[in-house]
Amino acid sequence: MKILSIETSCDETGIAVLEQTAQGVIIRGNALASQIELHAKFGGVFPMMAKRAHAEKITLLISQALDEADLLEAVETPTQGTDTALAFLHEKESALFDHIAPFLTFYQKPEIDYIAVTVGPGLEPALWVGINAARALSTIWNIPIIPINHMEGHIVTAAVEKLEDLPAQVDNMYDFAELKFPLLALLVSGGHTELVVASTLGSYTKIGSTRDDAVGEAFDKVARMLGLPYPGGPAVSALARDYRTNHLVVGLPSEEFRLPRPMLHSGDFDFSFSGIKTAVLYAIRDLGRELTNEDKMTLACAFEDAVVEVLIHKTLKAAKEHHIQTIVVGGGVASNSYLRSELMAACKQHAPEITLLFPEPWLATDNAVMIGLAAMTHILSEQIKTSAPELLVADGNLSL
Ligand code: KG4
Ligand code: ZN
Repeated sequence: MKILSIETSCDETGIAVLEQTAQGVIIRGNALASQIELHAKFGGVFPMMAKRAHAEKITLLISQALDEADLLEAVETPTQGTDTALAFLHEKESALFDHIAPFLTFYQKPEIDYIAVTVGPGLEPALWVGINAARALSTIWNIPIIPINHMEGHIVTAAVEKLEDLPAQVDNMYDFAELKFPLLALLVSGGHTELVVASTLGSYTKIGSTRDDAVGEAFDKVARMLGLPYPGGPAVSALARDYRTNHLVVGLPSEEFRLPRPMLHSGDFDFSFSGIKTAVLYAIRDLGRELTNEDKMTLACAFEDAVVEVLIHKTLKAAKEHHIQTIVVGGGVASNSYLRSELMAACKQHAPEITLLFPEPWLATDNAVMIGLAAMTHILSEQIKTSAPELLVADGNLSL
């Protein structure tokens, strides 16, 4: 059983081909194009620019992922009627049409059983490109579409483990870990900060979320204040690590830059990060000088400390109250090494009975493998819901 998956919710265009075998899930093809350079100039993602870049790249990535999976084959005679069948794309997605119509005319239907596509949450103009590409492939190849929630993709990436003993000619194979429920997902990305309880994969209740900035967004904004490039998370985190290494500290960087921990004791599972970000801005203003590298390292460390402390406090509180057996962390910020090590240490100390799972860092940031894996869990649990191509809609605020 093979799935072709599509991800275009923000600034990464991703296409993957996954195969379910008796031994596990093999990633047959994985093509990813980042728009980071494009958006770095502006310090953030503009939806219409993201849309254009997705439309320019997605067809090439589809052919690359299929080629890598050995599923790309040219037709002997051009397929007739693709332009007419794809007329629905012509007006709204002309850039996509210009690339995908010739592709579908000159390449054969591959051996794919399902197409999985992100339908939300995310930037709607960007989401539509992936959805319309899925509609085009499904219309011409007659392959059913499974709509996927991007956040579920982030959850399942933490639930897979790489297998060690691989069959010949397979260089990566994953399996779904035996998960104990209820499970708590801490989802931390550029657009979201959420705590979600799952009674099983596919059955989710959101118990808390950010009231203002998402944690990744706060990292990106603080990065801009410190003169660091977009996306800011990895850059801020690297400076904070340098500070800790230089000063041999584990806790507070300095009383001078003690930042607030908003909503730490709010009694619920909601978050707020804009206050920490503003406190960084005031700290910079109060310094009243051009920031030295030492200032930047100290502020980055103070910021990361504050954010990580709040995330861990609320996660462990939620875990206790909801009798959680497994915690998974997902989203771009899940690749933050300080969050990883601190959460591991906190769980070991306060909740050793809980299994804590993180995705491999390359799976934590947006990609299409996570969308294929989410679809795979729907198929394996026989909870699969397909959608007619014309009924698919992008929902920027789609909730779990
Ligand atoms: O999940 P993701 O790739 O995209 C969204 O769905 O938003 O997350 C991107 C976010 C960005 O805000 C980026 O700065 C942040 O994840 N990020 C990090 C790290 N790596 C990526 N934040 C903190 N530390 C990191 N190592
Ligand atoms: Zn994401």
